Amino acid sequence: MKALVYHGPGQKSWEEVPDPQIQAPTDVIVRVDTTTICGSDLHILKGDVPSVEPGRILGHEAVGTITEIGDAVTSLKVGDRVIVSCIKSCGKCSFCKTGLYSHCLGDEGASGMGWIFGHLIDGTQAEYLRVPYAENSVYKIPAGVSDADAVMLSDILPTGFEIGVLGGRVKPGDVVAVVGTGPVGLAAIMTAGLQGAARVIAIDLDANRRAQAHKFGATHDVDSSAPDWKEQVFALTDGLGVDVAIEAVGIPATFSMCTQMVRPGGNVANVGVHGKPVELPIQDLWIHNINISMGLVCTRTTSMLLNLVAEKKLPVDLMATHHFTLDQMMDAYDTFSRAAETKALKVIITRD
Ligand SMILES: NC(=O)c1ccc[n+]([C@@H]2O[C@H](COP(=O)([O-])OP(=O)(O)OC[C@H]3O[C@@H](n4cnc5c(N)ncnc54)[C@H](O)[C@@H]3O)[C@@H](O)[C@H]2O)c1
Ligand SMILES: [Zn+2]
Ligand SMILES: [Zn+2]
Repeated sequence: MKALVYHGPGQKSWEEVPDPQIQAPTDVIVRVDTTTICGSDLHILKGDVPSVEPGRILGHEAVGTITEIGDAVTSLKVGDRVIVSCIKSCGKCSFCKTGLYSHCLGDEGASGMGWIFGHLIDGTQAEYLRVPYAENSVYKIPAGVSDADAVMLSDILPTGFEIGVLGGRVKPGDVVAVVGTGPVGLAAIMTAGLQGAARVIAIDLDANRRAQAHKFGATHDVDSSAPDWKEQVFALTDGLGVDVAIEAVGIPATFSMCTQMVRPGGNVANVGVHGKPVELPIQDLWIHNINISMGLVCTRTTSMLLNLVAEKKLPVDLMATHHFTLDQMMDAYDTFSRAAETKALKVIITRD
């Protein structure tokens, strides 16, 4: 089969590799019908994620059709159309039993690490994929949900909702600010209304992305490069700051923006993956009763979000901006890596 193989920082190619085989009785093999590229794949290609070894097939988002099942698999069959979650779940360990799949203790990849596809085992940017612990790690897709909509449930939708909205404890009537309106920030904007957010302020440097954010549910937007960005945000509250500030960039400056704009008693939910330490002005924050949360997505809300997508309650279709076939994988990377120029949100890569 063909797959997108990482060959060390800055190097990748779409090349012939061996077909994946069932290795454990709980595995299935999936023919990849649709996949996409995540900002994390670009981080890997920059060399920011050294745990990814050269030779690894990248990608952790996919929708596909099961072509083979392991002997222990009883609830899935050949021909089932499924969403492959970006997080593994053995379903048996103490973390899986509490829904903390991101720390699944199953041996695949590494015990205690839920994100394994395109990281510690071969990923989804390929014609075929081996899925370990399949019965707990894939979700059957109801008729009427397109591949392009369903693939948003592999990673970005649960990430924005679980780590941003639920981590930030958004409640009815809240003013929520989301810093960074890439696919993950937009997913947080799209799902903030599920918890009753009254105002949702989209904050980004990129005017196109701020404009897009309104289609996903933002009520206001602020340019983070404006010298008076903070005054603009405060003017959209009762003057005391936002109830919840969600960080969806992953740099010290945007984390700091969140701690500056949150009101006393409010929540800062960090979703961004950071490459270096942030400054935490605890000497000022403690007296404001600020809560700070962070984490790797568990994907425990995937089924619930899939129900909403099936009923067309979330505008996920707006996320798909560019379309490619699998053999155009290198072009898809090129378009996605120049998102500010190409205005790409998610690139949809399909079998045919
Ligand atoms: N916690 C998790 O489980 C998890 C899962 C997936 C992704 N992530 C992380 O979430 C973050 C967002 O992912 P994405 O795919 O949407 O990324 P992205 O790169 O597509 O979007 C980031 C956005 O931030 C904006 N930005 C950059 N600097 C800014 C600044 N100073 N002020 C305001 N906006 C600024 C960019 O213009 C862009 O629109 C990344 O760090 C990613 O690694 C976390
Ligand atoms: Zn991702
Ligand atoms: Zn587990």
